[in-house]
Amino acid sequence: MELIHLHDKTFKPYITEQVIDERVAQIAQNISADLKKTLPLFIVVLNGSFIFAANLVKKLPFPCEITFVKLASYQGTQSTGQVTEIIGLTEAIENRTVVIVEDIVDTGTTIEKLYHLLKQKKAKQIKTATLLFKPTAYKKDIPIDYICMEIANDFVVGYGLDYDGLGRNLKDIYVLT
Ligand code: IMP
Ligand code: MG
Repeated sequence: MELIHLHDKTFKPYITEQVIDERVAQIAQNISADLKKTLPLFIVVLNGSFIFAANLVKKLPFPCEITFVKLASYQGTQSTGQVTEIIGLTEAIENRTVVIVEDIVDTGTTIEKLYHLLKQKKAKQIKTATLLFKPTAYKKDIPIDYICMEIANDFVVGYGLDYDGLGRNLKDIYVLT
């Protein structure tokens, strides 16, 4: 078994690229069935979602738009960062169907904030898609509409996901040993 060392930690193989690809194809079908007539705007949350988003949109056989955003987190006096702003969103959102594309939904803090910011911008319909979902860590109520895979509450890297900047280029997903 091929172990991967990143910084001070060791990771072992967890989900292969082939398995991920099959799941991405499945949710691409579900998204197509639901949204093919809506000319949706996919809002890809950088950095971690770039590989998932690229593979997902290649499998969508209908017209759509794709844009990339970063979330600015304001570090207040508390130790927890708070998402306060969407950076890079130049497209008009009002009255459109938008799909948030995330690499992983953990507690849900990030996706909830983005969801509410898009709601303020008067999106007509907001859907959410994620590569990975940790159901036991999720603390929010907003629906996660398209989930490729549910995983346990473990720390993973690869396929875009990082540990302190490293591991994004791994083609499979690895889990902390
Ligand atoms: P949330 O706001 O708690 O849902 O966390 C979401 C963000 O935390 C993701 O976009 C990732 O950047 C990061 N994250 C959460 N779990 C993991 C993991 O297992 N590996 C790498 N990053 C993670
Ligand atoms: Mg992320």
